[in-house]
Amino acid sequence: MGFAKSEVNKKICLLNGGGDCPGLNAVIRAATKTAILDHGWQIWGSKDSFGGFIQPQRMVLFTLTSTQGSLSRGGTILGTTNRGNPFKYPVKNKKGQLKSQDYSQQVIKRFKELALDALIVVGGDGTLSIGHHFSQAGLPIIGVPKTIDNDLLATEVSFGFNTAVQTATAAIEKVHTTAASHDRVMIVEVMGRNAGWIALEAGISGGVDIILIPEIPFHIKKIGNKLKQRTEAGRLSSIIVVAEGAAPLGKKPVYLKQKNTAAQPRLGGISFAVADMIQQHYQIDTRVVVLGHLQRGGSPTPFDRLLGTRFGMAAVELVAQNSFGRMVSLQCGRIESVPIEKAIAHQRLVDPSGELVKTAKAIGISFGD
Ligand code: F6P
Repeated sequence: MGFAKSEVNKKICLLNGGGDCPGLNAVIRAATKTAILDHGWQIWGSKDSFGGFIQPQRMVLFTLTSTQGSLSRGGTILGTTNRGNPFKYPVKNKKGQLKSQDYSQQVIKRFKELALDALIVVGGDGTLSIGHHFSQAGLPIIGVPKTIDNDLLATEVSFGFNTAVQTATAAIEKVHTTAASHDRVMIVEVMGRNAGWIALEAGISGGVDIILIPEIPFHIKKIGNKLKQRTEAGRLSSIIVVAEGAAPLGKKPVYLKQKNTAAQPRLGGISFAVADMIQQHYQIDTRVVVLGHLQRGGSPTPFDRLLGTRFGMAAVELVAQNSFGRMVSLQCGRIESVPIEKAIAHQRLVDPSGELVKTAKAIGISFGD
């Protein structure tokens, strides 16, 4: 202790936005511990993304006790939302209809009233873009990348991804035995809006036969050829893993028809479309498992707890160095920082001619291309 690193007492705030993600609590806990133990600062948490800047009762003071026991907990002790953009904040009008209002000036006003020295924004590209807008408006912002899809370019990996891959791999493994018992094709649908990383890594680790990802449009004929090839070789069951954002060549991804309350249209159902095509064209008994939010739930793996802890500590260190407008990131195994702007410029997509896809193809996995 001794607060050697910073003599000035700071008052900082942390929030998380978008979907929950295993490892978020590790970030919160590490940032809290570093701020209090290493610097002697005060650290606040804004509930449900920017909620604490809009309703004062949703701003909470973190203490060593309030974050105790959170390291191994899934979800986020702060709550989160993917509809919390203060620039387009959803508010009900007198008729009960949701209308967007710009609350950004209120966020800035509240930031100043609270005499905060920095805001740590933990999120995916959506929340980090909001953070970037506030940074441009003059707020001292630090970003922490969070995505189970692993689609943020400026970091090698984000916490949450490892847990999601572990969950998806365990599910694929279970599906193998039931598929073999019934001589069936089993399709496991995993998350991955624009990036197929979960499908790719869990697919290879789970020993599947076909991986379908958004980056490689597929042809049903190629899937059929692979299944026929396997049947002829006496392999009567097959496993397919499909990312929710995958689509046949020239076709759009499949969206859920249910009423959408999320900021983005909700994907889901490509596995059923692929199953129907297989049944229709090749008369092979096919079943589907959609993993959905199971992949976001549960206790984070040691890898994600460690990465979350490193990110949380590093974010507070960036505040200490007044290095604002930057996001912590993992580069060659080391924690570095990059401008937030760079982090949100492009998505980190699977390279169809990259090493992982090449490895998968070399061991006989088809991508339906
Ligand atoms: O961005 C992460 C993600 O898990 C996507 O893969 C998925 O489409 C989305 O979140 C679902 O979010 P929700 O159902 O919570 O709105």
